[in-house]
Amino acid sequence: MSLKIAFLASGRGSNVQAILNEIETGALKADVQCLISNIPEAPVLQLSQSAGIKTFCIPHRNLTREHHEAQVLEALNAFDIDYLVLAGYMRLITPEFLEHFQGEHHYRVINIHPSLLPAFPGTHAYEDAYHYGVKYAGVTVHFVDEAMDNGPILLQETFPRYDEDTLEAFKARGLALEHCLYPKALKLLSENAVQFRYNPISKRYYPEVIHHVPC
Ligand code: GAR
Repeated sequence: MSLKIAFLASGRGSNVQAILNEIETGALKADVQCLISNIPEAPVLQLSQSAGIKTFCIPHRNLTREHHEAQVLEALNAFDIDYLVLAGYMRLITPEFLEHFQGEHHYRVINIHPSLLPAFPGTHAYEDAYHYGVKYAGVTVHFVDEAMDNGPILLQETFPRYDEDTLEAFKARGLALEHCLYPKALKLLSENAVQFRYNPISKRYYPEVIHHVPC
């Protein structure tokens, strides 16, 4: 099936671009319904417009979180969306907002985070992992829940931090992994290759992936 997605993004847009590239080649069957950014200067706006995507700038400045989210929802309501895809969206999302995307075992909202969650949540994950001196870092694609950078993990992969790494080299290695992992996660969703299994010990549902080839 073709997955109907909408992006929320705040910055450069390299993950949006990586996903668009996979759609372009036909490797990922997805229809981008729209992109919304909360940052008027974000390069992702230009990128999205150039790609012919319906693009909205809804700045959060001077608005309460509730008011801003109401405006975002109003824009999204014009579209039929299977998944809301957070691609460098640097805003906390409220539980009230998430309820609009209730799925069977999870919210139909996914996020990419540049660390091995639950390590290093927040807005400077690469810097935090690098300065901590981890030997292995990673990238996580997860279903979003009520907490920041939290929720059932869909895909997660590691990459090494070499002793001689500069921060820039470390980040570049991680970003290359992001650009492989996020389209791959969407592809699994579009192919219905994600199932939820109940674990009676933790009493929670966990996503399980069928036929996953690592990046
Ligand atoms: C990416 O590294 C993404 O993982 C991160 O923001 C960057 C956005 O880059 N997201 C988070 O830190 C979420 N907490 P991009 O705009 O080039 O895709």
